[in-house]
Amino acid sequence: MSPTTPLFVAFEGIDGCGKSTHAKRVAKAVDARFTFEPGDTPLGVMLRQRLLDASEPMSPQTEALLMLADRSHHVSTVITPTLAAGQSVVSDRYFGSTLAYQGYGREMDLAPLRAATDVAIGTCRPDLTIVIDIPVAVAHARRAPSQRDRFESATVDFHERVRQGFLSLAELEPNWIVINGNQNLEAVTERVDAALAAIGWFA
Ligand code: TYD
Repeated sequence: MSPTTPLFVAFEGIDGCGKSTHAKRVAKAVDARFTFEPGDTPLGVMLRQRLLDASEPMSPQTEALLMLADRSHHVSTVITPTLAAGQSVVSDRYFGSTLAYQGYGREMDLAPLRAATDVAIGTCRPDLTIVIDIPVAVAHARRAPSQRDRFESATVDFHERVRQGFLSLAELEPNWIVINGNQNLEAVTERVDAALAAIGWFA
């Protein structure tokens, strides 16, 4: 069942947490537009390819600004028009990923990063952000070593900071919840759907 007012829901978490599975499932169930960052626009495809390519080192600042360029374009060409047309949006990653990965993970100052994020997203904030939380070791075990990109090949300490970053953000940000992703799929699904029922989906 779709709500009458279109809603914007974002899924967040460390690589391998399972958020993409839930984001896609939920989008299909409520007939929302599934989207993701980085890379779900023609410009974003190019940015994603350069961002994930571990062979070209880049500073945290460059990384952050390219992520924000992707997001700004994603907001103006996909998210805002979709919501304006009356369809809900489910995004696999959004502004929380920049604060968690480039802020907490790469240890950039959060205040300027937040200000830059505001430039990229304007007033386009999710109605609900769901963090799927799992221990780094569990996430790591789910990934094939051959698939490691710039972020997946970063240190365990980096991923620990990112995980703790998401948990800290969930305490600070309005409309964020954390769901334990380290349980069977049915249990996580139940928790995700309960959180969405609270905003009118699956009710
Ligand atoms: P994602 O597409 O979720 O990863 P996957 O390869 O599992 O599909 O995200 C790609 C990487 O980009 C991921 O390691 C997290 C990172 N990322 C940031 O560092 N900052 C950001 O703002 C975003 C959106 C992603």
